Amino acid sequence: MAIDRKSREYVICPCRNVTRGEVEDIIREKKLFDIKEVIEAANVGNKCGGCRGDIYQMIDEIKAEFE
Ligand code: FES
Repeated sequence: MAIDRKSREYVICPCRNVTRGEVEDIIREKKLFDIKEVIEAANVGNKCGGCRGDIYQMIDEIKAEFE
């Protein structure tokens, strides 16, 4: 069964084998709302770049929780 793209187990960055949950936690804990900081801290989105759209979206959603 395919994993839901919104689930924490979803591998958001196959290049780095990083899950959505791992990136979410780093964004929340460190309050990183800048894509460059997230890329560096989570080691995602720095190879093919194909996952960056998803990461941008996650940053926006989590940022909204803090506003
Ligand atoms: S899928 Fe994230 S850098 Fe390629």
